[in-house]
Amino acid sequence: MTQNTVKVKVWDIPTRLFHWGMLCLLGGLWWTAESGEMEWHQLLAYSLMILIGVRLLWGFVGSDTAKFSQFIHSPRKVLRYLHKTKQQGISASVGHNPVGGYMVIALIGIVSVQLVTGLFATDEIFTEGPLYATVSSDTASWLTWLHKKNFDLLLILAAIHVLAVGVHMIKGDKILAAMFSGYKQLPESQVKPLSFAPLLKAFVIALVIGALVLNYFMLPVIDML
Ligand code: HEM
Ligand code: HEM
Repeated sequence: MTQNTVKVKVWDIPTRLFHWGMLCLLGGLWWTAESGEMEWHQLLAYSLMILIGVRLLWGFVGSDTAKFSQFIHSPRKVLRYLHKTKQQGISASVGHNPVGGYMVIALIGIVSVQLVTGLFATDEIFTEGPLYATVSSDTASWLTWLHKKNFDLLLILAAIHVLAVGVHMIKGDKILAAMFSGYKQLPESQVKPLSFAPLLKAFVIALVIGALVLNYFMLPVIDML
């Protein structure tokens, strides 16, 4: 029996902007590192710092589907979800599914490690992260090594993430379109009331974090250009 489906808003604008903005910035960070454009590397990294900062706060005070408490589930729930998926196949979910939730945390975590290690990194020529001088040169070398290796890990995780998105698409769960439009077609039985935080709240958070990052991280680099 086929169920009636309805079009439901699942992702707010800040979450979608975060995702696609982060993807563009990561591409730029890769390119600038490869081509030695280190001032731009830093400016893009600090722009990403603003996005990550806003997303982390949004995970506590944002819309329902963006909240960490809504998509980080107990291992028991993850196992139950896996069991159900094995028996009934992939079904559309409102927001991140219990397995996807952990992938989201891993991706945000690994991008944050990349950002933090960058603050201590050095290319041993012109560029030192702003916190380079706060640690010994051995520690800075190790963090630079980690900065390089962690990016490879990020690429591997991103490939698994894209593969998972592809599998969902093949199975008819249109999660990619939803990350663009914010809307998803869901079976009536799965629809539940969702609360969306006002855009103004995200704007104010972005303004405050943006001003701090601009002042403490970006302006010193801009001064050197
Ligand atoms: C390095 C590259 C990428 C990273 C670090 C990344 C990271 C993330 C993160 C953190 C989320 C959760 C969004 C949130 O709740 O804030 C997410 C969701 C998502 N991403 Fe990516 N992503 C990457 C590349 C891509 C690409 C290339 C695609 C397109 C094929 C994609 C498609 C999606 C989709 C469809 C979702 C929603 C998943 C769901 O419905 O649960 N991502 N991604
Ligand atoms: C999430 C943000 C960041 C990403 C994705 C990123 C990415 C990369 C990549 C892909 C490399 C090249 C690694 C390799 O050669 O194998 C690199 C190198 C480097 N990055 Fe970042 N980076 C980020 C943040 C930062 C920050 C905040 C700084 C601060 C200055 C920084 C400074 C450096 C330095 C000094 C190198 C070493 C270049 C060399 O030894 O040739 N990065 N980064």
